[in-house]
Amino acid sequence: MKVLAFNSSPRMKKGVTDKILQTFMSGAKSAGAETETVYLVKKNIKYCSGCFNCWFVHPGKCIHVDDMLEIRNKIKEADLIVFGSPVYFDGFTAQMKTMLDRLIAGGMPFIQVRDGHFRHPSRGGEKKVRKMLLISTCGFGEKDNFDPIIQHMQAIARNFATGEYMGALVRPVGSTLEMLQDENPEGVKGVLDAFYQAGVDAVSKGVISDELQEAVSAPLIPLKEFMERANKMFQTMISEKQASQQN
Ligand SMILES: Cc1cc2nc3c(=O)[nH]c(=O)nc-3n(C[C@H](O)[C@H](O)[C@H](O)COP(=O)(O)O)c2cc1C
Repeated sequence: MKVLAFNSSPRMKKGVTDKILQTFMSGAKSAGAETETVYLVKKNIKYCSGCFNCWFVHPGKCIHVDDMLEIRNKIKEADLIVFGSPVYFDGFTAQMKTMLDRLIAGGMPFIQVRDGHFRHPSRGGEKKVRKMLLISTCGFGEKDNFDPIIQHMQAIARNFATGEYMGALVRPVGSTLEMLQDENPEGVKGVLDAFYQAGVDAVSKGVISDELQEAVSAPLIPLKEFMERANKMFQTMISEKQASQQN
């Protein structure tokens, strides 16, 4: 089984997205999967220009010659695609959205009805089902910050001719995984263990239970306390930066 992950955080390996994504991928690998992570920031991916040449002029071929051909080939081979993205203004990062838009070259213009909804067929009439999983983190504390990105992920899976939504592993107040490492090591370990187990189960069982999807979001600190500590830290950071600029 091939598990292909995209990490669309511009902070790449320094970010929270990568911490939780790689923990999941280690679990997947331990269960026998072949795993690969694509860091979208490192790739040359131009914006879709909306010209539809890929549908009508050179079917299946985009006017842009960049890394998308390689990415489309990787997607074709994958059994599970993991979309790793932090929440940026309530949705996917621009890097992820730019990549997603360019997948239009893999579809055809014709309209068909699938599950009672207009859809485009995939080019080549592919039958292979690809599971799709969202892994995300955000700065705020409420879980509803993920509602728009989860809905978007579900819609993308329905839109893909051969896509199947597998679930969402979302981690609010992602910074607490670092911040509370020494204060609440058991809590942090519990969250990361749940990401790891989700990787194991995704490969060995083909599903991630609701319990595990809940466990990765488990609160590690009362939100009011987090807010007060974060605001104090931000104020100190601003004062220190300004003082250093004046000297
Ligand atoms: C441009 C930008 C927009 C953001 N928008 C949101 C947001 O709408 N809601 C939220 O809770 N966090 C938001 N955040 C915080 C990030 O989701 C958070 O810092 C996350 O840890 C970043 O992931 P990374 O560490 O993998 O880079 C935003 C951060 C940036 C830089």
